[in-house]
Amino acid sequence: MAAALLEQGEDAFRRLFKYYKRRQPPPDLSGIVDFSRAQQYCKVLIAPLNVTSISDQDACKAGLQPVCKWKAYSLDGYPGFMFILDPFLPGWQCYWAKQCLKIYPRKPNVCNLDLHMSPEETKDLWEQSREQLRLKTPGKREAKSLLEKLRWVTLGYHYNWETKKYSPDHYTAFPMDLAYLSEQVAAACGFQQFKAEAGILNYYRFDSSLGIHVDESEMDYSKPLLSFSFGQSAVFLLGGLKRQDPPLPMFIHSGDIIIMSGKSRLFYHAVPRIVPNLEGRAIPSCLEHTTTRYNCSADTSYRQRDEGDWEICAKYLQSSRVNMTVRQVVGVGQSFPVTSDTEMITDSQPYSYHQDPKEENEHKRQKLEAAAKSP
Ligand code: SIN
Repeated sequence: MAAALLEQGEDAFRRLFKYYKRRQPPPDLSGIVDFSRAQQYCKVLIAPLNVTSISDQDACKAGLQPVCKWKAYSLDGYPGFMFILDPFLPGWQCYWAKQCLKIYPRKPNVCNLDLHMSPEETKDLWEQSREQLRLKTPGKREAKSLLEKLRWVTLGYHYNWETKKYSPDHYTAFPMDLAYLSEQVAAACGFQQFKAEAGILNYYRFDSSLGIHVDESEMDYSKPLLSFSFGQSAVFLLGGLKRQDPPLPMFIHSGDIIIMSGKSRLFYHAVPRIVPNLEGRAIPSCLEHTTTRYNCSADTSYRQRDEGDWEICAKYLQSSRVNMTVRQVVGVGQSFPVTSDTEMITDSQPYSYHQDPKEENEHKRQKLEAAAKSP
């Protein structure tokens, strides 16, 4: 009875989150905003871009089409929220997806597996997983490779999931290519001075979700949060400033970019469900591996290795989605506050917004264990 009352008392965001997350019966996805059919929704508006802020050449260096060709939208009632429909040049989504799988999980970057494995064991997840992934039969129950167990990677100022803080003492060089991409996108959206200082990469399988949260650990909210997605699609819920505000559901497809700035910078959001790309293909066609400056090399062995790598990425992406969020942590003239080590723990259930069934069970087990130990 109490449980039933609790259910009824749940706020609209939580109810919708659970609705879109549930397996049986599956949710009705028909009312979800799809920006690739933007003209169908009265809330969706064309967003102006700063077309002259980056040259076509600079856009091209980041793998982006000229800004004048991008399709960008905003949403009535969500000031500062912007949605850019896949602005990548052919072949470049593959480049970014491969960076997320092969390069960015490498040390000194930090990942969820580091929490219970030694640095030696997580040294090169790509090399440790590639053969296992290559030999996998889709649909067959087989042991998971490390790459399939990867849930998140942090870059730059490494986000501390326990304290929900960044620290100047835990910084490693932010990847230059991703900083360049982010700075071009931010400039096109009117944020010329954006500095990419921290990144959180989320790796989703079909049964993963990301709980309701707001990104508020950065010190300068006047800087946007950029979010890039590759692979299968997602249902994204965008709420408001209050945890209970009813959210708007929208699809994010491969290559799409979201910018959260202004008032929307601190809006609650969540990813309750990963859905197969709407084209019904194993991987979306925008991820077809066409010529890029990286694989048109005359060096045949390089080309073969690149193609072999892509085969592995493509297999992984058949059942996965990768998302990179990029943030500026420190504003101009700001510095990190002085904190003592003991002051930091703010949440008894760290990592709580990454939800996949195994992890959820692990959280529940930890909670139960803690409850059993308490008097
Ligand atoms: C996030 O909110 O941190 C990521 C959202 C996404 O995966 O699209």
